[in-house]
Amino acid sequence: MAIQRLGIIMNGVTGRMGMNQHLIRSIVAIRAQGGVALANGDRVMPDPILIGRNADKIAALAKAHGIERWGTDLDKALANKDDTLFFDAATTQMRPGLLAKAIHAGKDIYCEKPVATNLKEATDIYHLAKAKGIKHGVVQDKLFLPGLMKLRMLRDAGFFGRMLSVRGEFGYWVFEGDLQPAQRPSWNYRSEDGGGMILDMVCHWRYVLDNLFGEVKSVSCLGATHIPERFDEAGKKYQATADDAAYATFELVAPDGSPVIAQINMSWTTRVRRDDLVTFHVDGTHGSAVAGLTDCRSQARVNTPKPVWNPDVKQPFNFFDHWQPVPEYTTFDNGFKVQWEMFIRHLAEGTPFKWNLLEGAKGVQLVECALQSSKERRWVDVPALAA
Ligand SMILES: NC(=O)c1ccc[n+]([C@@H]2O[C@H](COP(=O)([O-])OP(=O)(O)OC[C@H]3O[C@@H](n4cnc5c(N)ncnc54)[C@H](O)[C@@H]3O)[C@@H](O)[C@H]2O)c1
Repeated sequence: MAIQRLGIIMNGVTGRMGMNQHLIRSIVAIRAQGGVALANGDRVMPDPILIGRNADKIAALAKAHGIERWGTDLDKALANKDDTLFFDAATTQMRPGLLAKAIHAGKDIYCEKPVATNLKEATDIYHLAKAKGIKHGVVQDKLFLPGLMKLRMLRDAGFFGRMLSVRGEFGYWVFEGDLQPAQRPSWNYRSEDGGGMILDMVCHWRYVLDNLFGEVKSVSCLGATHIPERFDEAGKKYQATADDAAYATFELVAPDGSPVIAQINMSWTTRVRRDDLVTFHVDGTHGSAVAGLTDCRSQARVNTPKPVWNPDVKQPFNFFDHWQPVPEYTTFDNGFKVQWEMFIRHLAEGTPFKWNLLEGAKGVQLVECALQSSKERRWVDVPALAA
């Protein structure tokens, strides 16, 4: 058994996602468990160098997590031939430029979504990666959530029969920043800084819909900016120029060719009264299921209660009683870490890895179609993206 070193240049790790999900919950956790095991018994040990603008901040972060290497000079880091993977979780707007630079330096690529703020940049970066022959991956974390993995198992077991429809509810109240600090960065509410609900979330819905329910063929979307003014990290009032909610309907085609209708409400201006911060309710001819981040509950055709509409009588059923939890059929790890491990195996032993820059570009494509739909107040078809 040998230990193979993987030198990773990690950019944007002082941010919310970079620090919590990618550095601490993924790379530091993989190092603590002794690396990623390969089929031949070898292990791959990530050896990250953390790159950021603020030396004090990045040095403190490295020290806190037992990482020896850090720096403020990305070009210098890219010049080191021993670090072969570039990872980015910094701003969406800067991402395609940074990825291009890293690809030209011969690095493999792994990055957060969205790959870019527009389809042209997203497809350009995919074609550049393909032309240079590097390996590439994009975070598609929702697919690795326990709730959605349980839902996938129901689908694979044929539980739903013919799938009819999916209703997704995503969101929670994001504080405006005056009464109490907002729990998301202020750039999320400024389109000039790469913010907006549609850009942030519709790229997730693309891979969730495509991979669990059916390929997305068409979208109708209405974006809204419900809260026009918010307060930033310094307590300063700013104009919210981006959409903070969107209401979308998608036409899908399931693998068996049958149509599926998906509706997804996404909002940072809603108060939660449902099982989780995101839920997907799937109805099929033979059964239904509701999945959240961790749990999934199902109701088969034979277990379906038979309500009768009668407004004169207080409802005798508690409809929440008629659902059965899908058991914890395995030990679920953090979804970001699971995807990192898959990508590291792909790098080290060439195992298949579907979630590449083309899949990332598909997410950005659906974002563009949804924005166009909202602007022009009409359905927009989603053409296939050429590989
Ligand atoms: N997969 C997911 O579920 C998920 C969730 C949230 C965000 N994201 C994505 O992750 C990325 C970061 O989002 P976040 O919420 O962590 O944001 P954040 O504001 O917390 O972090 C942004 C990071 O970028 C760095 N940065 C900002 N401006 C920079 C500049 N001019 N030059 C160099 N670095 C700069 C910051 O220092 C920080 O490290 C975004 O692309 C976002 O869309 C993904």
